[in-house]
Amino acid sequence: MLAELHVHIEGTLEPELIFALAERNRVSLSYADLDELRSRYEFTDLQSFLDLYYANMQVLRTAEDFADLAKAYLRRAAQAGVTRAEFFFDPQAHTSRGVPLAEVVEGLAEAVAAGRREFGVDAAMIASVVRDRPVHEAEEVFGELLRLSAPIIGLGLDSAEVGYPPSLFEDVFARARAEGLHAVAHAGEEGPPEYVWQALDLLGVERIDHGIRSLEDPLLVARLVDEQIPLTVCPLSNVRLRVVDSLERHPLPRMLEAGLLVTVNSDDPAYFGGYVDDTFAALRDRLGLTDEQRETLARNSIAASFD
Ligand code: ADE
Ligand code: ZN
Repeated sequence: MLAELHVHIEGTLEPELIFALAERNRVSLSYADLDELRSRYEFTDLQSFLDLYYANMQVLRTAEDFADLAKAYLRRAAQAGVTRAEFFFDPQAHTSRGVPLAEVVEGLAEAVAAGRREFGVDAAMIASVVRDRPVHEAEEVFGELLRLSAPIIGLGLDSAEVGYPPSLFEDVFARARAEGLHAVAHAGEEGPPEYVWQALDLLGVERIDHGIRSLEDPLLVARLVDEQIPLTVCPLSNVRLRVVDSLERHPLPRMLEAGLLVTVNSDDPAYFGGYVDDTFAALRDRLGLTDEQRETLARNSIAASFD
């Protein structure tokens, strides 16, 4: 059994599907072909990736597009051995360009139902606040999700981290928790340990997405170990966004040794060179993770899931 707890459904948009949806929706792309698009998948930091990630979303317009996107991910996740998938989506990335939220939610919900029926993956959706957009917009879109009775299990926080601390979003997270939703947040990816503290203390999150910069703060590590707060780590993403120098130098083994409840995830697999099975294989081959360590990671993923 394996759970994937940190994957952005828009980050599973493969180049082939970008071209297919562009044709279906008569969207003109600025790339002539797949090779030209793929040549842009070279990132220097989180922002350089986010620019392409948001630009490519222009091909996602209808409920059918969102359903096709999420079904393709769930099919691939099943092949990777994933039995439970808690995926993020970015409502504001779509509403801000005129796509009705109902289309997004309808399409993703259809895929969740198909995931169980067709691929044997138990899937669930987490709506994520796009933290570099206005705070009032996050609050309005969250209200709309409630009015639509969107079948979400939680609220997350993602996008450009530095300069957008968790403290900005206390109110919307308080509302989400009052609604009985789970709370998670990206913190300590590019941002400082202080943002992890804020996510825990001000937003009341149950898991930290990434969190690898927590290692810079021994008191924070002690808290995370003590409370066994899961960290959803994404090693291939960290390498591609230059959060770490190389996979060989990734701090994952140190995190396990410290007693942190670490899980391994793909983040944006269409952009970072692999799904969760590819990630586990790379951790074995290039970081020397033992069978036992990989079993611990899989066990942690089930323990950390909201199922
Ligand atoms: N949105 C998609 N992928 C992300 C990441 N790695 N960090 C922050 N926001 C994201
Ligand atoms: Zn992420």
